[in-house]
Amino acid sequence: MDPGQPPPEDPVAPHTASPPKRQRADSGSSTSIESSRSVRTLTSDDLEYIHENGRTYGNETYYLPCVYLPENDFKEQDRLSLQHQIFVHALQGKLTTTRLLLSTRRILDIGTGPGHWAVAMARQYPQAEVVGIDMTEWDLDTTEATFGDCRVTWELDDLDVWGRETVVDDLAARLAQYDFFTETTHRNPIESPTRSELNHPHTHPDTSVESLTIDLSNLEPQPEPGWHFSDEFDLIHLRNMKGSFAHWEDVYAEIYKSLSPGGWIEIADYDLGQVPLPADNHDPSALPMPTLRKLYKALMEASFKSGRPLGTFYMHPSYLEEAGFTDIKTMHVNVPIGQWADDEAQRTIGKLMLVVVMETFEASLLRLLTKWGDRERVWTAEELKAEIAVAQQEVGDWCVKAERREVEGWCASFKWITGRKSWHAI
Ligand SMILES: C[S@@+](CC[C@H](N)C(=O)[O-])C[C@H]1O[C@@H](n2cnc3c(N)ncnc32)[C@H](O)[C@@H]1O
Repeated sequence: MDPGQPPPEDPVAPHTASPPKRQRADSGSSTSIESSRSVRTLTSDDLEYIHENGRTYGNETYYLPCVYLPENDFKEQDRLSLQHQIFVHALQGKLTTTRLLLSTRRILDIGTGPGHWAVAMARQYPQAEVVGIDMTEWDLDTTEATFGDCRVTWELDDLDVWGRETVVDDLAARLAQYDFFTETTHRNPIESPTRSELNHPHTHPDTSVESLTIDLSNLEPQPEPGWHFSDEFDLIHLRNMKGSFAHWEDVYAEIYKSLSPGGWIEIADYDLGQVPLPADNHDPSALPMPTLRKLYKALMEASFKSGRPLGTFYMHPSYLEEAGFTDIKTMHVNVPIGQWADDEAQRTIGKLMLVVVMETFEASLLRLLTKWGDRERVWTAEELKAEIAVAQQEVGDWCVKAERREVEGWCASFKWITGRKSWHAI
């Protein structure tokens, strides 16, 4: 596989001293953010971190851990920071594949995480108002200290406002017929998880006794589930958001609604591409990296059982077409895993990518396999960690052999898809 062109270098930034803390938009102390507010579903008081198997999670459903500041647990923020640099390398120093006008007014980054992309965009488009929304708190001070000070409005919000439950009973039989290694990008590979009959709008947890007495005469009409931003955006960006939502149709319809006429959507993500086959042996029983394959299959099955399937299928162009977008374009860049490429810049990015791959095992597998389990069973953290160590060894060995030209080099597949809202849309 040929990796993409050599990108400019972007040094890995260490944690440094933080500037004074900036208040989040949910603090209620700022007036400038009113124009960008969605109907709020979260404030920092609602956050209840969940500790599982040595990692911390922002809620009960999302599969990846988050940063946990009281203990300075930066593991996940560091992984996302490295990943950000790889995305920028892959685009040869650019942050977006969308051709934005300098007059771009408002940019939204959904699931901004530690906000690396949002900060970089705010620096590149200083006239634009950049809003970064996430359902959990990250150490934004560190991001700003390392990637540059900027004018980003940070909002704390859970954007999965539809909150539907998923019925998973019949999934096991359908999962058995599905080949996760070849079909990760198909739309609805085994059909979306079935929606339950209930359609709960997202509500604030309110357990006060008074709230149990309902006076029907005072009931106010509830808004339709949705984001309800008070002003439109010219670009809405999502990166690395696989596994965040159960029903992507709702998400894209909401994004379309939240854009200005002529506004853009951009979605970026990656998968581990085709795990290479040995050149001289295509016998499936002799496939290389068997533990990696086993874990990958288990990961995908568990994600379907959790109701939020992984895979880049959510970037299928038909989702954007159905939501009404036009000018839909996709772009792919192969990023080497390990230092096997001839080009020095590609070897540098390959080294970073190998670190990300190694770190991603635990981040993505731990909760899914110990909570939902694969088709057959729920795993224990101990057995999973032992299997992860074996898979990491397999990957490391493969990379060494690839450097010696004994086996084919392995690439991750980075993808972008963009679409545009019609100028005539109302
Ligand atoms: C893998 S991280 C990606 C962060 C960032 N986009 C990047 O590329 O570096 C996914 C982020 O999405 C956030 N997220 C997931 N589900 C969300 C939801 N329903 N509402 C808001 N944020 C969400 C997570 O908290 C996490 O910070």
